[in-house]
Amino acid sequence: MKDSKKTPPAASAADAPSCEQRRQALKIAVVGMAGLGLLRHVEPTFADEAADLRPQPGDRLVDINGDLAKPLKADDIKLASKPILAFPFDPAGKKARDGSRLNKLLLIKLDAGAMNADTKARSAAGVLAFSAICTHQGCDVSEFLPEDKNLLCFCHFSKYDPLADGAVTAGPAPRNLPTLALKEENGELVVAGPFSSAPGAKTNT
Ligand code: FES
Repeated sequence: MKDSKKTPPAASAADAPSCEQRRQALKIAVVGMAGLGLLRHVEPTFADEAADLRPQPGDRLVDINGDLAKPLKADDIKLASKPILAFPFDPAGKKARDGSRLNKLLLIKLDAGAMNADTKARSAAGVLAFSAICTHQGCDVSEFLPEDKNLLCFCHFSKYDPLADGAVTAGPAPRNLPTLALKEENGELVVAGPFSSAPGAKTNT
C-alpha cells in the first residue's frame, strides 16, 4: 500500500540562506535592537569591516554633521564652544568608521591649564575626545555647560567632567565617559590610542 503522506521536498543548497544573507540579517537585527534600546552594550560584531572597527591609532577625525571625507584640524574647534560629534576616519581606506554607533565621539576644546595631568596628556592643542555614548542608557552626550564646565546627557541629566577624565559629577551614569587620546600632526587631529574603557551603556556589575 502506498503511503498517502507526501514527503516534503528536501531543501536544496540554493534555498539555504548564504553566509552573507545570514550576516546581513543578524546585523539588521542588532541595529534594530540597539535602536529600540534593547541592547545595553553592543560590541563590534563585524569587526572585520573597517567601518565597524573602534578608533585605531593614526585615524583622523571627521565631523558627523559635516564633510565625512575632510579630517578635522585642532583649529576647526573653538574654545569652550558646543561639542562637535565626530567619527574616526580610516586614512588608508579614506572612509569614516561609521559602521557602529559606539564609534561616535564628542570633541571639545578647553583650556589645557585647567585639565588634570592625565586629561592634559590625552589632549591635542586643547582638544579632548570622549565617547559620545552616555554610560547610563546610551543616549548621546552632546552638550557642554559653560557655567560648570560639564558635559551633559539630556536623557536623565548625567554630567561628566571633561577636565578630569570624564568623571561622573551628577546623575545616574555608573562610570566615567570613556576617553580617547589624541595627538596633532600637521594641524590635523589624530587618534593616539584606544578608548580608555569600552564605550556604551555598560554597568560596573
Ligand atoms: S542615558 Fe544619559 S543620563 Fe540616562
